[in-house]
Amino acid sequence: MAKPNHDDYFIVKAHENGVNVIGLTRGKDTRFHHSEKLDKGEVMVVQFTEHTSAVKVRGKAEIITPFGTVETEKGQP
Ligand code: TRP
Repeated sequence: MAKPNHDDYFIVKAHENGVNVIGLTRGKDTRFHHSEKLDKGEVMVVQFTEHTSAVKVRGKAEIITPFGTVETEKGQP
């Protein structure tokens, strides 16, 4: 496994109440290990770590990364 780069980080800004920032485990088993709920206007600064290799964002939010900014979109109702 490549050594995790602890300098990797990004920012999640919630555009509605109840946005979930969900951390997924690094390694053989990929599973949720933490879910953080943000309310509208709240910001979370997130790092990738030896425990966290991926993050899922659920809800309307802006995700600011070193390589650009993306916004989540509404899925099927
Ligand atoms: N204990 C987790 C870790 O060290 C904390 C964490 C880091 C986290 N990045 C995250 C939790 C992203 C949720 C989403 O890996």
